[in-house]
Parts: sequence; structure tokens; C-alpha cells
Amino acid sequence: MTINIEAVATKSGESALAKAEACVIVIFGATGDLTKRKLMPALCHLARKGELSEASIIIGVDRETMDTDKFRALMQSAVHEAKGDQLFDAEEWRHFAQKLNYFACDLKEPSRYGGLAARIQELNGGTLGNRLYYCATPPTLVEPIIAGIGTAGLAGEASGWSRIIIEKPFGRDLASAQALSDTIALVFMEHQIYRIDHYLGKETVQNILVFRFGNALFEPVWNRNHIDYVEITAAETLGIGHRGGYYEEAGALRDMVTNHLMQLLALIAMEPPIAFDADAVRDKKIQVWRTIKPMTAAEVAAKTVRGQYGSGQIDQDVVPGYREEPSVASDSNTETYVAAEFRIENWRWAGVPFYLRTGKRLARGVTELAVHFKRPPQPLFAGKTELIEPNVIALRIHPNEGIDISFDAKQPGSEMQTVNVQMDFRYQQAFNMRIPEAYETLLLDALCGDATLFTRRDGVEAQWRLIDPILESWRQQPPETLPNYAAGSEGPKAADELLARNGHKWRLLGTQLTNTPQTGTTKQ
Ligand code: BG6
Repeated sequence: MTINIEAVATKSGESALAKAEACVIVIFGATGDLTKRKLMPALCHLARKGELSEASIIIGVDRETMDTDKFRALMQSAVHEAKGDQLFDAEEWRHFAQKLNYFACDLKEPSRYGGLAARIQELNGGTLGNRLYYCATPPTLVEPIIAGIGTAGLAGEASGWSRIIIEKPFGRDLASAQALSDTIALVFMEHQIYRIDHYLGKETVQNILVFRFGNALFEPVWNRNHIDYVEITAAETLGIGHRGGYYEEAGALRDMVTNHLMQLLALIAMEPPIAFDADAVRDKKIQVWRTIKPMTAAEVAAKTVRGQYGSGQIDQDVVPGYREEPSVASDSNTETYVAAEFRIENWRWAGVPFYLRTGKRLARGVTELAVHFKRPPQPLFAGKTELIEPNVIALRIHPNEGIDISFDAKQPGSEMQTVNVQMDFRYQQAFNMRIPEAYETLLLDALCGDATLFTRRDGVEAQWRLIDPILESWRQQPPETLPNYAAGSEGPKAADELLARNGHKWRLLGTQLTNTPQTGTTKQ
């Protein structure tokens, strides 16, 4: 039995629409997957909501030869597919498509960028004006693109602002991240660089700070005096699909921990910023990463677990193991699962373990942060005390976006029987409105010059300082037996043992979907 106490939004959250200044949006990698699945649908939504200025122009740049008409047709089918028949509006598309243009260019050839500059000016009434560049390309093309932009004098801000959005990975380790930042810094100043982490654009992720700092109820208990441990989970049922080539080089630690999970960790643990502005928020996040001591080799062995999926079953489908996926070596040791324990050594958190886990092909797709409170002293329930469950606050990023708080209540009846119940807040029910996609939020922020949700150079480096020792120890000590978990399972056994050593356990990945209450009885 689950008791849901529904929360309903009590204020109409009407806010003034942010509206971006007119600009030219240049998308490098315009025929790629990211542009088709995320960027075009997001831009189309922004235009529909009136958040993209009418005068804005979009130029898709890629090496394929095609004209603007063909590019528009390609984007139309991509947006149609992303939105589905129900939501795709042909009239709205026709209006939006007028903004789209195409420029064919070998992205590795700096001399071609002069032609791009001429095209921008031609479409923009003879001036460069405001420009937002988006590198939606594989990482190997980022440096050539930056060099091309620099050579053609396209980064300057004499005739309007100029910003660049760069997708992860930001390097493969600290040294390469620093080298990449140095290269970018030859052309762009730090205030022009927007390093995107799409997790930060998710409404539910942004809500973490509002939940913590906008309510008097939670912040006073948000510390080691009351909190036992924190779990951060990003579990996926998907495998690596057609990304085998990339994933073999990256692995779960680089792909998910060094960015998405580190960001979640910072948001749940940071001190309050003095304002919601870019540097105030980012300073506080960086403080969290700097307060974690990088692991020694012995700590890596004791506090991290890597895994790789073997074949198994997801729902009704039998799926192959990682080593059988396309473009993956048959003896690959790349990890598709990571669990790790981090300690934040400050007055608020000393002694509280933060457990992070992420994996592909797990039992359920769940992204959540679960804050476990200490078990209260319970002389009243002597004899059955182990059955009284500690409170848990779960911030659910996906699915069922929302927050639930579990606590114990008396089950009606003559016996003193306790039941674990939940207060359940769901975004969809409370606000009854479409939740914007992460890319919509982040594109709009970049267009408006708000870098709060983007990662600063020192933030990237602070994260790598924590990840580098793990990479290095893992490199020196190859894993014993991989694969070590079946597709469709909860992950490797060693991850359970990691928490069991401290008397803790992971929430089952299905917890938030099928919540079974725990009951206990004490005779009066
Ligand atoms: C990406 C990773 O950054 O995030 C993918 O490269 C992962 O491997 C994805 O699947 C998860 O994002 P989301 O929004 O689906 O949780």
C-alpha cells in the first residue's frame, strides 16, 4: 500500500518570458544527430513561444553539399520525427523554416571560414552582429572549428556579442582538458564560452536549489547531524546503441560521472550562493568539488566499482552484452557501470558518504537523488525498532519528475502498527503544463548571456582532479572479471557490497515506480 499525499502548485507560476536579442545562430555539425534530435526541435519551440527573436537567423554548417531547400527539408523530417504527428504543426514549421540557411564547409579547413563570415554578413544585412556558435560535432572537430572561427575573425565582439557552446567531453583527463581550454582561449575569452551539460537544463535539476534554499523546512536539517547518506543514481535501460566507437574510448566514468553526476553532487551538497548569478552559483559548486580529497590508489580499490553488462533481458527483449555491440572489441574492458563513494570534508558533510552510481542496461531507467536521514531513537517501539524506516527525501529527475518524502505513520487499528508512507509531488500534476526540454532552456540561456547553468573552466578542472586518480588506478589494475552484471539487473554485486560495508543499501531501481511500504508492529 502506498499513501500518496498529493502536492498541488498553489501559485500560478507565471513569469515574464525571457526573450533573446536578435542574432545569427551558427550550428556546426548541422546534419548530425544532436542537431536533428535536440537542437532543431528546441529552437523551433523557442520560436513558437516567442522567445527567439523574429529577426534571428540560423545557419547550419556541415561538410555535405546541399542547398538551403534540401537542408530545410531534412530538418523538417527530423523535427517531425522528434515531435511526433500529434505535436508537429506544419504551419508553425513553415514560419520557422524561413530562418534556416545552409553553408557547406569542410570543418577542418580554416580557409573555408572566410566564406562563412561572408555568408553571415550577407544574411545579416552586411554586418556580423550578434553570433551564437554551437559545436554539435564529434570532439575531434572542436579544435579545427575554433581555429577556423579565429582565422576568419568571427570571434570578435566589435559588431555584437559572440558566444560559443561546446558539448562534452571537455578533455579525457585533467591534462587534455587544460590543453583544450588553452586552445579555446586563444580565440574566445572565458565569458564567451558556454560548456554545456544538458543535465543542468532539466527543470528537476534546477529545482534542487529552490527546494533546498527556498524552503525553511529542509535546509536546517541538510547536514551531517541529520543525514546518514546520500545516493545519486543515473540508471539507464538503454545500451550504447550505435555509439560503440565513442563509448569504447569514454566509458561510464568519463561519459556520466565527470559532468552529470558531479553536477548533481554539487547541487545537493553546495552552500547557498549569494545570488542566482553565474559566478556566485558556480563558485559554490566548485567549492564542493575542491572539498573532496582525490582518492589514493587504496581508496580507489576500496571505494569504486566498475562493471560491464553481459547479455540479458530488458522487459521482454533479450539483448546482447556490451562486448557483442557494434564497434566494441570482443575483449573490451570498458566500464558501462560505475559506483563510487565520495566524502566531502567540510563542517556540513564530514562523515556522510555520497554514493554515486550510473550504468547502462540496468533494470530500470531512473535518475534520482535520495537523501537518507538518520534513524531516530525509538524506545517507544522497542523490540521492533528495526522495522521503523528512516525518512528518505527522493528528488526524482526522471521518470515521474518530482519529489517524494517518505515517513512512518500509524496504521489505523488497535495494534501499534507503523507503515511507511509517502508525500508525493509530481511536476506534471502540480503544474499541468509542458516541461521544457533541457536544450530549450540552455539554448535560451546562452542566447540571453546567462552562463549560470554552464560549466566554467575551473569547474571542469576541479572535476578532473577527482576523476584522474580513479582513471589512473583503473589503468594500472585491469578489472578482474567482466562482464559482471546481466543486462536488466540492478548492477554488479560489488556495488551492493560497497554500501553494505557502511550498513547502507541502494534503493531498488524500481522503488519509485512500485513503492511497497514497510510495516512493523509493536503491541501496546
Ligand atoms: C549523455 C551521455 O551525456 O547523457 C549518454 O553521453 C547518456 O551516454 C545521456 O545516455 C543520458 O541523458 P538523459 O538526459 O537521457 O538522462
